[in-house]
Amino acid sequence: MKGKFITFEGIDGAGKSSHVDWLAERLRQRGLTVQVTREPGGTALGEKLRDLLLNQSMHLETETLLMFAARREHLAQVIEPALARGEWVVCDRFTDATHAYQGGGRGLERSKLQALEHWVHEHLQPNLTLLFDLPLEVARERIAVASRDLDRFEQERADFHERVRHAYLERAHGHPERMRVIDANNTLDNIRKRLEEIIATI
Ligand code: TMP
Repeated sequence: MKGKFITFEGIDGAGKSSHVDWLAERLRQRGLTVQVTREPGGTALGEKLRDLLLNQSMHLETETLLMFAARREHLAQVIEPALARGEWVVCDRFTDATHAYQGGGRGLERSKLQALEHWVHEHLQPNLTLLFDLPLEVARERIAVASRDLDRFEQERADFHERVRHAYLERAHGHPERMRVIDANNTLDNIRKRLEEIIATI
């Protein structure tokens, strides 16, 4: 595979999505072909699964299996073909989110997550993962200001989101070769400067 795979992660309200298109544009300015996509979603089937995952209550293992089912389709239809063509893929969330939300947030055993990860993408990991981190209160405020209907995850209590944040930071600690923590409680300019510095190294 010649292309590079960059993922964005963070708790709800971290503001990562607003940087996805900006980063893709910067990479295009370097002459790269860039696909922007997201999880859950990124394919017609994946977007249907997203709708269920965000709105329909279900057993934790069902939720986890559907996340990975959407991911399997996404890898087969979008991510792997793009990387094989030498394109870059910028994806808003990937498997770190399942470890953080279903593992950290909801408490699913790590061994089950590892088995699914091994099954679905044994040989593929992101080249770079940008983890947008900020205090929970700031994230909650941002969500409140957005004043729209909240999905199943956004509706979870503060302690759930604390566990998600903690699981993300633990993962970043465990995978220093590909994960970079971005202080998302910062000005847009400073965040972009930090992103520029990071992408200059890959
Ligand atoms: P988004 O708000 O970043 O689009 O993500 C949708 C929600 O899905 C977000 O609250 C996190 C959640 N999610 C999981 O719980 N597990 C996963 O594996 C993924 C990809 C997302």
